[in-house]
Amino acid sequence: MAGRLRAAVVGVRGMGIGHIKAILALPEMYELAAICDINPETARKVSEEYKVPGYLSLADMLKHEKPDVVSLATPHPFHCAGAVACARAGVHVLVEKPIASTVSEADRMIQAHKRAGTVLSVVFQQRYQPLQRTIRKLVIGDAIGEITRIHMTATCFRSDFYYKLVGWRGTWEGEGGGVLLNQAPHALDQYLWQSGLEVKTVIGRCEAFMHPIETEDRASAIVTFANGAMGTLVASTTDAPGIYRIEMVGDKGAIVFENGKASIAVNDVPTREFNAKCREEWGSPKAEWKDVVPEDPGYPYRSHDACFYHLGLQIRGEKSEYVPGEEGRKSLELANAIILSGWKGGSVKCPVSRREYGEFLAGRIRAAKRGKKRTGERSG
Ligand SMILES: NC(=O)c1ccc[n+]([C@@H]2O[C@H](COP(=O)([O-])OP(=O)(O)OC[C@H]3O[C@@H](n4cnc5c(N)ncnc54)[C@H](O)[C@@H]3O)[C@@H](O)[C@H]2O)c1
Repeated sequence: MAGRLRAAVVGVRGMGIGHIKAILALPEMYELAAICDINPETARKVSEEYKVPGYLSLADMLKHEKPDVVSLATPHPFHCAGAVACARAGVHVLVEKPIASTVSEADRMIQAHKRAGTVLSVVFQQRYQPLQRTIRKLVIGDAIGEITRIHMTATCFRSDFYYKLVGWRGTWEGEGGGVLLNQAPHALDQYLWQSGLEVKTVIGRCEAFMHPIETEDRASAIVTFANGAMGTLVASTTDAPGIYRIEMVGDKGAIVFENGKASIAVNDVPTREFNAKCREEWGSPKAEWKDVVPEDPGYPYRSHDACFYHLGLQIRGEKSEYVPGEEGRKSLELANAIILSGWKGGSVKCPVSRREYGEFLAGRIRAAKRGKKRTGERSG
């Protein structure tokens, strides 16, 4: 494809401004064509500031601007309708995380773009950080052997003020979940992408512990993977200071990522082999912890600019590291499974039953509308 791609951004109050800046940071690849926001004041302000046409509806913008690419930075429940409308208009899409609120919406988005022959990509900017890429390369390259256990802690703090400031946050109708859909998706994506593991079953626990919100501000889960590995995880918006940690243990050693640093230990003898041969009461494989040194990815982009850069390469038919819709659906599948198990009880098999999840969410939205108080409610 010759020439610059005409890109337009939908939802320009918060993250959408980051999309605009990322597009403007890639002037050889993109031209900012237009913006759209259902809030007239936001649309006017941003359109004036960036000197591009502003629209109040995606349909109008598609009709009048005919962009090549649309990025969606609206609350998650609009991601599906927006991405499907773009596919029907033959427009490529970059959609914010989570890809959608429900897995069936993600299915529809993926199908629509497949049918249209357009690219659907999901914003998981952490995949482009050198340290995160290097961890994945080591694990997928068998540096610690087959994964036998993995744990994720993704905790942070959000205040009541944060939830009250923007009406859709922490509501079933406005986002379809809580911390698992809003703050934890990056960590859930790393958990699955770096390990390469496939989720089989989930037992979750969800609760509105600290905040007066409808959805979970604290969640934990026990995850069983297809290869038999044991997974555990916690996510919250109730912990200060927050901790971001992923630990992966394999048959040959372990890798731990915590708050921006990572270390690896490789055993002198693989664990199962050592176990079969060991004849000492307190014997154990020997290993030394070493820092993981990040590899330069070979491009200068690290955040949303990297998401747009790789999408652009993919659209041009060049070699890219874009994140396809199917990849974005994986962390949503896990989040939906924890939510379903956590609020309903019992173990949930993956892929999640689309029908059961749809009925569950519709029930939660109906109950919330009836004004049922949910603060302090917990499951399990
Ligand atoms: N990648 C990241 O690190 C990251 C960070 C923050 C938010 N996000 C994601 O970005 C999305 C938006 O979050 P935010 O915090 O920027 O929200 P926000 O509420 O600050 O902004 C959303 C904007 O979308 C507009 N909008 C809502 N429905 C619309 C529609 N149908 N058509 C056009 N405009 C519409 C709203 O008026 C608002 O201006 C969420 O999915 C969130 O998970 C991602």
